[in-house]
Amino acid sequence: MTPRQLRALFIGFGNVGQKVAEILFLERERFPNLRDLDLSVVGIVTKTHGALVNNNGVDVVKALREIRELGRFSWTNFELVSISGLDAARQLEYDVLVELSTLSINERGEPALLHIHEALQRKRHVVTANKGPLAFAYSDLKSLADENGCRLLYESTVMDGTPLFSLAQSGLRGCTITGLKGILNSTTNFVLSRMEQGERLEDAVKTAQKEGFAEADPGHDLEGWDAAAKIAVLANTMMGATITPFDVDRQGITHLQVEDVQKVSKAGKHLKLICTAKREGAAVRARVALEEIPHGDPFAPVGESGSILSIETDLMAPIIITETDPTLSDTAYGVINDLLSLRDECRVSGIR
Ligand SMILES: NC(=O)c1ccc[n+]([C@@H]2O[C@H](COP(=O)([O-])OP(=O)(O)OC[C@H]3O[C@@H](n4cnc5c(N)ncnc54)[C@H](OP(=O)(O)O)[C@@H]3O)[C@@H](O)[C@H]2O)c1
Repeated sequence: MTPRQLRALFIGFGNVGQKVAEILFLERERFPNLRDLDLSVVGIVTKTHGALVNNNGVDVVKALREIRELGRFSWTNFELVSISGLDAARQLEYDVLVELSTLSINERGEPALLHIHEALQRKRHVVTANKGPLAFAYSDLKSLADENGCRLLYESTVMDGTPLFSLAQSGLRGCTITGLKGILNSTTNFVLSRMEQGERLEDAVKTAQKEGFAEADPGHDLEGWDAAAKIAVLANTMMGATITPFDVDRQGITHLQVEDVQKVSKAGKHLKLICTAKREGAAVRARVALEEIPHGDPFAPVGESGSILSIETDLMAPIIITETDPTLSDTAYGVINDLLSLRDECRVSGIR
């Protein structure tokens, strides 16, 4: 069967959106196995940097150039329109919403949650790297997707593009996931690694910002909210939980001094911010807490911006996946991997 073109609407065109666009539209020849992913981007919507719409396909290369050179889409670009993310999700003709807007905790995943809800309601597929909607409303969104015969894919929400969710869904058939344990936030892991070497928390955060993986406002990371959102996503999607980040027993690292971290290190252990989810009867309990990890534990060598997840099941011994020094390309790959899955499924089933 000939590959079909997927019409995509991008909401959010920041670091991740631009990297996806760069790989698919600027650097495509470098990646031969992407050659038959035929994507037409019919809209790109940002919050404050403009929106582009073209039913025949936005000129993505031009969009990238403009946003990088001018800091926004050009006023002279004939594709420039005034439209919100929600109106775009509601009105434009597309096959897949690629939701890459900012994580919101206080607003409980909004407005991304509304964008995704609207797309699924209209029987459109969704690919997202935004944890918020899944951390706050996975089970509702999944039911809506199933009722409407569409796919909700989110491989980049946790550990960037590492294929965690595809492993859990297709590699562990028949297993019940009974527990999850991970180091899931790069900023806190980096800061703790640097504090072990004597760097102050504030200085380590500045280094993480310079290296590009800590947010300009690192509060969400340092206070454990990003980790809480990630373990909520994992528990909701892999363990059938219906928790939100507010239900996670959460600890951050802002209270720590270099001496606290080095004391643990001198005792032959490493201080790590560990996320866990455990089945307790019918409920799933999730936690983000500092733990002292002994040398020799598989979690001990996960330093700097690395991540790790251990998946416990009833049928298999724990499976441990690690990610070392991820970059933006890893996150972009997760989004592209989801688009490829969708392309393949549409090809087999003929669904649009
Ligand atoms: N960066 C990573 O490595 C990484 C890894 C895994 C997951 N993620 C997740 O991926 C998503 C995107 O991350 P990012 O690093 O690309 O973020 P970013 O650079 O801050 O970009 C966010 C984009 O979303 C747009 N946006 C925000 N609110 C919007 C709204 N209400 N309507 C329309 N557009 C809106 C922003 O527009 P303006 O710029 O105009 O405000 C911007 O284009 C986030 O949810 C993040 O948590 C990121």
